[in-house]
Amino acid sequence: MQTNVANQTSNITVEDDRTGLSIETLKRAFADNLFYIQGKLAILANFTDYYMALSYTTRDRLLQRWLQTLKVYHEQDIKTVYYLSAEFLMGRHLGNSLINLDLYESIEQAVKESGLDLTEVLEQEPDPGLGNGGLGRLAACFLDSLATLEIPAMGYGIRYEFGIFNQSIQHGWQVEIPDKWLKCGNPWEVVRYESTVQVKFGGHTEVYNDDRGRPHTRWIPSFTVEGIPHDTPVPGYQTNTVNTLRLWKAEAGEDFNFQAFNSGDYDGAVATKIKSETISKVLYPNDNTPQGRQLRLEQQFFFVSCSLQDIIRRHLKKYGRLDNLADHAAVQLNDTHPAISIAEMMRLLVDDHHMFWDEAWRITQSTFAYTNHTLMPEALEKWGVPLFESLLPRHLEIIYEINHRFLQDVQTWFPDDDELLLRLSIIEEGGGKKVRMANLATVGSHAVNGVAALHTELLKQDVLKDFYKLWPEKFNNKTNGVTPRRWVLLANPTFSELITEKIGGTWLKHLDELRKLETFIDDKDFRDRWRQVKQANKQKLADYIMAHNCVEVDVNSIFDIQVKRIHEYKRQHLDLLHIIGLYLRIKQNPNIKMTPRTFVFGGKAAPGYFMAKLIIKAINAVADVVNRDPDVHGRIKVVFLANFSASLGQLIYPAADLSEQISTAGKEASGTGNMKFTMNGALTIGTLDGANIEIREEVGEDNFFLFGLTAAEVEKMKYEGYNPRDYYESNEELRNVLDRLAMGYFSPGEKDLFKPLVDSLLHHDEYMLLADYQAYSDCQAKVSEAYKDVEHWTTMSILNVARSGKFSSDRTIKEYCDEIWKVKPVKVELEPYDPARA
Ligand code: G1P
Repeated sequence: MQTNVANQTSNITVEDDRTGLSIETLKRAFADNLFYIQGKLAILANFTDYYMALSYTTRDRLLQRWLQTLKVYHEQDIKTVYYLSAEFLMGRHLGNSLINLDLYESIEQAVKESGLDLTEVLEQEPDPGLGNGGLGRLAACFLDSLATLEIPAMGYGIRYEFGIFNQSIQHGWQVEIPDKWLKCGNPWEVVRYESTVQVKFGGHTEVYNDDRGRPHTRWIPSFTVEGIPHDTPVPGYQTNTVNTLRLWKAEAGEDFNFQAFNSGDYDGAVATKIKSETISKVLYPNDNTPQGRQLRLEQQFFFVSCSLQDIIRRHLKKYGRLDNLADHAAVQLNDTHPAISIAEMMRLLVDDHHMFWDEAWRITQSTFAYTNHTLMPEALEKWGVPLFESLLPRHLEIIYEINHRFLQDVQTWFPDDDELLLRLSIIEEGGGKKVRMANLATVGSHAVNGVAALHTELLKQDVLKDFYKLWPEKFNNKTNGVTPRRWVLLANPTFSELITEKIGGTWLKHLDELRKLETFIDDKDFRDRWRQVKQANKQKLADYIMAHNCVEVDVNSIFDIQVKRIHEYKRQHLDLLHIIGLYLRIKQNPNIKMTPRTFVFGGKAAPGYFMAKLIIKAINAVADVVNRDPDVHGRIKVVFLANFSASLGQLIYPAADLSEQISTAGKEASGTGNMKFTMNGALTIGTLDGANIEIREEVGEDNFFLFGLTAAEVEKMKYEGYNPRDYYESNEELRNVLDRLAMGYFSPGEKDLFKPLVDSLLHHDEYMLLADYQAYSDCQAKVSEAYKDVEHWTTMSILNVARSGKFSSDRTIKEYCDEIWKVKPVKVELEPYDPARA
């Protein structure tokens, strides 16, 4: 297509408007990009070059929609959702963009005709690991749903140079390797230097009078860092909406000190540059240790300040005033990491824009909402007052003022309750003063939500109960969800095809329609194909296991899988105790009959979390013994897959028969892996925890393997005095299991290696593994029995999928839109491409 650039004075024409979708145009664009952008001849190109060229080809086709979306948002009177999150675990972009643009098949064909295989090209993309686990992945699912539902939205976060470490397993131990995901360039981002912002740190504050004699406070920082926006398009599924994920990179304003250089101080010459860039250097692993706490607070403030300044700048440009900010912006705080937003927004409004405190506070409270993701006390962030004072002196003053006013209100509502004041205060007294970020977020927001029904109840009854007493209307539940586009369509294409063939393709936008699958429950052909698809997915995973772990697994065995962050509350080691139990049964009776199983684990341990790392080592140590023991005769195999990530998840979830969701009841806020497994036809063995409860309600109790103590029972037992040793003494198998582990049976030459693990279980057992062991083991026996009845298992698997509609993140996002953000969809219509008007 020849497009004339309608600039009257020039005759520039562009060859192609880069939106063409025919196979020929796509092939041509691919070849052009390889030549002109990658600078490679096809005969010399490698797979990275192909990946880059194809990504640019795809991005070009996104751009028209992206720019049109920005234009519509700019022109219309809209309300925008701003999702502030320290983590966005987006997963690979290329495959997802092809799916959402409905381009997958054409590109597959174009690539094929160019002599390549699309799957291989897709595999080249580094998985941008800008998150630790569920929290970051949830943020990514939410962005997908927001764009799909045509909601004006923007994600704000940090462009970490190194994402979550790559995990390699050496001698059974986790070894962390830096994740250099940007080393070959990132074709998905566009840098917007023109929107750079300044972020202040340190220094002191001073009071001054303005022209009219009104006193104000100003912050004189000791150093300033620049935030450079890097934008990534987020396309909705089969819609024109392409929203933006804006990630901030930290840079020094002046990154080279010539004076220092000239005087021979070469380190000094680049010191500021290094200090500034450190802020967005690396994703901070969730390891609950004091190292790096200052850096982490710097990171949080950095991206919060950049984002809020950006929101205010754009709002002012459009409306010229700030009193109506809350009518046009809904800002969601994804956990406490961005909670400093409350104080920063007040500072921007009061200090920089000279608004009166009360009005600024009204705007802040109506703009912000806060999502809590955990009840684990160590993850509820608190910052020492001295650290705050040195890094954010003005914010500390503002927080004191917010707290003072808030506690005065509390005093009028509940006079003479000093204990209540102490509990509600944003400042924790005693043992070193601390700023409680969850309290700050709760006080400064108009809505507070948990991420599954039980979790929200526990928030109300426990962690935030005093706040619930003050403001019951603020609290609401938003059960998590996941996007079926990535987690079913992209991850499991043959399965999706089968579903679409039966019920049409609209289920991908209306997941409840999966219910229609129940009409095919007795259709023999459908059931056979259902099993074939699962079997083929298991084979794919088996091949991967062979290639990466050199372990041959039986695709007819139960694929029993637990993938998630390694944490004691998630109880990977309960799974392991059961495996050891089975192994000992085989050793005692080598002829024992057992439904064959392949136990698969995957997940990263925070580098500073000793026990989590020891659990990984224990899984690998047991795997070594079990997999090599000829007595086992292929009845059980144990595999730890290194470097679990979103892309590996796409291979794993579709291949699972059994999903392990076995956290101690009351500890897992929601879980989202549980949803991905269910949607891909796995059955769940799980406790009444997080979203498991709702999954079970939806799929029906007959189609779910339930075991274990309830949250209330856990609390009661703890209250009455839990003694794990009682279980050890009274349960022979459990005793043998723990003894073997403690005696060094699985760690020849290192007798005491697993003693800390066993000691912690015997002496504290914080997460009640021993109390749940027998129930878990009995439930696993039911699983083994059930799996023998292939027909019944198939029925349960179909019902799990058919009834998983609730767990689409589209449903979750609709609830946020209606009940918290009060935002409406905005239609983006495409105009024919005309560069002159762009
Ligand atoms: C955390 C919670 C998990 C929840 C997720 C998203 O994820 O622990 O229950 O589903 O946030 O809300 P994690 O980091 O543990 O994977």
